[in-house]
Amino acid sequence: MKILGIDTSCDETSVAVVDDHKLLCNLVVGQQSLHEPYGGVVPEIAARAHVERIVPVLDDALTQAGPLDAVAVTNRPGLVGPLLVGLSAAKAFAFARDLPLVGVNHIEAHVSASYLLDPAPEPPFVALIASGGHTLLFFVPERGVYERLGGTIDDAAGECFDKIAALLGLSYPGGPSVERAARDGDPKAIRFPRPLKKDDHFDFSFSGLKTSVLYKVKGQDKRRADETVGVTSVADFAASAQEAIVDVLSYKAVRASQAMGASRLVLGGGVAANTRLREVTAERAAAKGVTLFVPPQSLCTDNAAMIAVRGGELLAAGIRDGWDLDVDRYTR
Ligand code: KG4
Ligand code: ZN
Repeated sequence: MKILGIDTSCDETSVAVVDDHKLLCNLVVGQQSLHEPYGGVVPEIAARAHVERIVPVLDDALTQAGPLDAVAVTNRPGLVGPLLVGLSAAKAFAFARDLPLVGVNHIEAHVSASYLLDPAPEPPFVALIASGGHTLLFFVPERGVYERLGGTIDDAAGECFDKIAALLGLSYPGGPSVERAARDGDPKAIRFPRPLKKDDHFDFSFSGLKTSVLYKVKGQDKRRADETVGVTSVADFAASAQEAIVDVLSYKAVRASQAMGASRLVLGGGVAANTRLREVTAERAAAKGVTLFVPPQSLCTDNAAMIAVRGGELLAAGIRDGWDLDVDRYTR
């Protein structure tokens, strides 16, 4: 089945076509320059940019991929305005061509991105999805079944990267700029806290780490300025903070795999594009006999290919949506 995928859940306008796990095209048009002056995504600006871009991007995808059999679209979770643009485009397209339409959960789709790998991970496996809005550990006993093992109780890992970047005066989006700055830094320069790392559950917490970076950068109390203020380089701050996030994510993901008796671990979401996270998780997984599956970076950050793959699974299970399909800003 040749499936068109559409994702406009945040600040990327993406359209892809997947034919039975073969990726025919995956177009992603970012909006970084529009949001950069504000230091984060402005939902209204994102929605308007999607309106301008969705039809040309769709046209390009169709030129590359030819006739289609179905339409899959992210309808949850995400920013409401941006989601509505993609959903309206998907409905119009499916209605005009009399194609089945299916709404996709963006987080589940981040797991499905790994099915484009060759070889693809076979369930049962554990999946860590770390993005700008979510940090979740799932046990996937079979394809399409997601048992939540834990998640962040405050900030998401990507959000933590973004906020740390802002504190360090690095450009938006923060994850890639922290990673770039960290290349010249010493990950051991500052020992940042590893919240909940060794706790006996699979939840995460990143807001304390963010505050710790704030205090180290700006000083907690002006009268007792921390010895790191004005002394430690941005590169050392970036490398040390990245190390703390990577340490907790990789440690808990591998431990969850062991706890579930799963010999395979999947990473997904924008934070999984982080080279250090990929390296450290690969080392830790290998040491415990767990095989790691991580999609290429372009399939970790937001993309519509993963939406098409997840849509294909739902359609194969006999699920399709009606014209009353709505958006939902939350995951349910
Ligand atoms: O999955 P994604 O593209 O969008 C959401 O669904 O949220 O994830 C975006 C998040 C942002 O917080 C971004 O800073 C982070 O992923 N990110 C990274 C890297 N690339 C993107 N974080 C760390 N290192 C990276 N290389
Ligand atoms: Zn995402």
